Amino acid sequence: MNVPFYRHDLTAADAGAVASVLQTPFLTSGNVGRAVEDRLCEYFGTKHALLVNSWTNGAVATLLALNIGPGDEVIVPAQTFIATANVAELIGAKAVFVDVDPATLLMNPDSVRAAITPRTRAIIPVHLYGQMVDIAALQDALEDRPDITIIEDAAHCFEGELNGEKPGKRSSCAIFSFYATKNVTCGEGGALVTNDTALYERLLQTRMHGMSAGAIDRFKLGGYRHWDMKQMGMKANLPDLLACLLPAQIDTIDQRLPRRDDLFAVYERAFAGAPIRLPSTIGNSRHARHLFVIHVPPSIRDDAIQVLGEHGIGVTVNYRAVPTVTYYREKYGFAPNAYPVSEAWGAGAISLPLFPSLTKDEQTHVVETVLNQIVPMIEREQSAASR
Ligand SMILES: Cc1ncc(COP(=O)(O)O)c(C=O)c1O
Repeated sequence: MNVPFYRHDLTAADAGAVASVLQTPFLTSGNVGRAVEDRLCEYFGTKHALLVNSWTNGAVATLLALNIGPGDEVIVPAQTFIATANVAELIGAKAVFVDVDPATLLMNPDSVRAAITPRTRAIIPVHLYGQMVDIAALQDALEDRPDITIIEDAAHCFEGELNGEKPGKRSSCAIFSFYATKNVTCGEGGALVTNDTALYERLLQTRMHGMSAGAIDRFKLGGYRHWDMKQMGMKANLPDLLACLLPAQIDTIDQRLPRRDDLFAVYERAFAGAPIRLPSTIGNSRHARHLFVIHVPPSIRDDAIQVLGEHGIGVTVNYRAVPTVTYYREKYGFAPNAYPVSEAWGAGAISLPLFPSLTKDEQTHVVETVLNQIVPMIEREQSAASR
């Protein structure tokens, strides 16, 4: 049996939404996207929302809006996707890595405090796999540095909550990804939510080359309006052709989460007695259940991926620690084990298939393959190591 790592659930009705945009003269960012932004404000309870064409471009537009650049430092966790660090380096700032909590794999306020310097301008906590970093605790750690901006990487965490609060509630902004495998997707895309009106107004410009008016506003009121450019910006707007895929998903996201909860629970129960590590779950929170990641001994991880592949199971790795990739290792001269928790997790992590249309038979095949093929490999490795 073949089980893909991911299967989207867009349907013929979504094709209809694209067809209706094609019937209008306006394909780029227009009224369809504006309506989605209003829905996002409602869902997250924020004053503002802005659609962007990826998490990455949304984050670069944010750093530009904050005038962060060369000479500045941005603190990021070592256990995340490279994009979290790359956005700082792309605008000429320095990505400063911190290790993560060994149980939750989330950024920990004490490590952040230890990494702060006079050059620190921003922190990007990552809600890894769908669990939220405690933003209130991070704010307490920054009490004497109110100049430092918190930008939440909520790429995995559309549905997540901590203590009843959603991303974007406390920080300067939260950024989501609508990349192909995300819980809400339009193939490529993303969104920012913020309560900071001054930041929102700058973002309207940095999202669009620094221009003072986007296309829909330039042609409003029947006549052409000139625009100005007062600050450097980029092209990060999401076209209506993609935005039209989002409303149906946003409207049903909370009804669809219990399906992800159930799939998660099946994996957790099945692996409870097995020599497999899982990230621990935080109390008083709602997990967005974006990724189900197991950890096996690093010495057998790549063989385990091979065996799962031979059994028709699509898996991936989220993530090898960012400071270990060649670019960062060579640029900053990191020694092995500089970020021990992130490196150890990243060397043994395997993400299993997790998507709402995963069938019972498909999940059973994944569970049985892990228990019958991978667990014996782990046991052999552990008994060899103890000899
Ligand atoms: C934690 C995290 N941050 C950022 C990104 C980048 O998102 P995008 O592909 O929308 O730029 C991803 C994408 O997978 C991610 O997983």
